[in-house]
Amino acid sequence: MQKLKILISRAIQPEVIAKLARHFEVESNQPDVLWTKPQFIEKLQGKQGVFTTGGERIDAELMAACPSLKICANMAVGYNNFDVPAMTAAGVLATNAPDVLTETTADFGFALLMATARRMAESEHFLRAGLWTRWRYDMFAGSDIHGSTLGIIGMGRIGQGIARRGAHGFGMNVIYHNRTRLDAAQEAECKARYVGKEELLKTADHVVLVLPYSPASHHTVGAAELALMKPTATLVNIARGGIVDDAALAVALRENRIAAAGLDVFEGEPKVHPDLLTVPNVVLTPHIASATVPTRLAMAHLAADNLIGYLTQGRAVTALNALLKAAP
Ligand code: GLV
Repeated sequence: MQKLKILISRAIQPEVIAKLARHFEVESNQPDVLWTKPQFIEKLQGKQGVFTTGGERIDAELMAACPSLKICANMAVGYNNFDVPAMTAAGVLATNAPDVLTETTADFGFALLMATARRMAESEHFLRAGLWTRWRYDMFAGSDIHGSTLGIIGMGRIGQGIARRGAHGFGMNVIYHNRTRLDAAQEAECKARYVGKEELLKTADHVVLVLPYSPASHHTVGAAELALMKPTATLVNIARGGIVDDAALAVALRENRIAAAGLDVFEGEPKVHPDLLTVPNVVLTPHIASATVPTRLAMAHLAADNLIGYLTQGRAVTALNALLKAAP
């Protein structure tokens, strides 16, 4: 029987390509060429599945041009690169890669919070530049993590992981805001208290953003929200670019209206707002919150399992548009 065909849009772990090749005729992209949309569409001709990594836009126009496509498997928990309603309408299954990255991403969120509050990047640049000639009592004095108030906006699996770290590991007072309130058992496990967004912004010493991006969450933190925060507060964004108004944040940082920010995601990444590159009180990382060797491998295996499960047995592991249950 002729094998179905899939496309892998970016370089991925060779063992995952080998696994996919046991089931499909695979076209991979190990040189990691960044295709234009017309090139991507061209590559997708005659393919039943595509392995995406989060940056590839899958929309109605693309699906209309790729009638053989049955499934797009994202190697990311976030899927704002997918137009899921359009995919559903076109009969294309969308899958993401949740759960396997939860603890790794929560670790990173906490690390970024600590690096930001304790001014680690700024002080390292100072040392490397040879500026450390003597001690001063207030040199890189930051703010405490232990015993402070941690405000989390977006209390899904990763948000809860950060809450547990803060409450149990650092004795933080955890407050959160979310579209829906957690149940009592989850709140108890995270030692977290539900509050309104305004109260959270006004009272938290550290605000961590972990909510999914959608038009509704665009600029969840903009100039007005930054103005509510304490001047001593830190802001951490490990969610998605566009959740924060980066231009407004750069102004707030430059004018010390908040103390510091830690950003792993950016509006228009991999471009970074130029003003963020010149303010000192910000820690910048290139969207690496899930980047450990085992977790990135687990994410790739999950995306591969979704392709294999759906195209060979009609059952994906983590389907986003659940109505597409039938075998393609
Ligand atoms: C990373 O940002 C992801 O969504 O997995």
